[in-house]
Amino acid sequence: MSVVNAKNMLLQATEEKYAVGAFNITNIIQMEAVVEAAIKKRAPLIIQTSVTPSKFLNPKVLVAVYRALAEAAHIPICLHLDHCDDVNHCKTCADAGYTSIMIDASKRDFMDNLRQTKEVANYCHGIGKISVEGELGTVSGVEDQVRVAEDKAALCDPEQALEFVDETGIDIFAPAIGTAHGVYKTKNPKLDFDRLKKIADLINGSEPRVPLVIHGGTGLQPDVVKKLVSLGGSKFNVSTELKYTLIDTTYEYILSHKDEYNPGKIDIAVKEAIKAKIEYWIDLLGCADKA
Ligand code: 13P
Repeated sequence: MSVVNAKNMLLQATEEKYAVGAFNITNIIQMEAVVEAAIKKRAPLIIQTSVTPSKFLNPKVLVAVYRALAEAAHIPICLHLDHCDDVNHCKTCADAGYTSIMIDASKRDFMDNLRQTKEVANYCHGIGKISVEGELGTVSGVEDQVRVAEDKAALCDPEQALEFVDETGIDIFAPAIGTAHGVYKTKNPKLDFDRLKKIADLINGSEPRVPLVIHGGTGLQPDVVKKLVSLGGSKFNVSTELKYTLIDTTYEYILSHKDEYNPGKIDIAVKEAIKAKIEYWIDLLGCADKA
């Protein structure tokens, strides 16, 4: 029961106005860390991999470790593929046992995006209970292989969003509202809260139907995060902060233990640092004790 897709946990979050953390991992230690933190907080969890880690770790290996961890945990845990712009790789990960897939065709024109997203949604729904996320408008910054320059980022049109959601049959929807991947250049990035509210009202106003995703969690101020959640963001993506934590902790540990040569101790230091970050995010998003 702990191996689940993202749909029901996010419908509940939308209904009760909290968000589930979707945390990008790049190795097995990080995966264990996010699972242990979520178990401690009794929070539903979405583990995400970008496309590159899914390829170098091998989707089947990732799924095997995910299933072993999730089956032993009494919380719902989803394994999600983040920002995949390749329909075939979406299908490969769905076949391997990912429980949720994001097809990111947002750089394409509207009709092409719609067509590719619908193809992945039909495929995933056809082979089992796999949830599918699509995106409209573009999120600036760099997330793995997806790069969008700031002046090329386009916000999501609310009316088109409704058409996109209805036509594609997706389960989860990522509207671009001004958040960005990576580290924000200013403390107060310009976000379009009104646009998010309008989209949330149009899609989920009468009843929660298709939960909304906020990309670009790293660097957002806590009050901004809470506002985005209160306006309808129920899946909250955090990646860069966890990469920085992994690398900074590794450097610091090695520099302060130059004669040790014990990789397990580096792993333990990284794990504890990642767990602290995840616990912080779970509290901020309001999903503790919601599992
Ligand atoms: P950050 O890297 O800015 O946290 O964004 C994460 C994200 O949106 C992954 O899809």
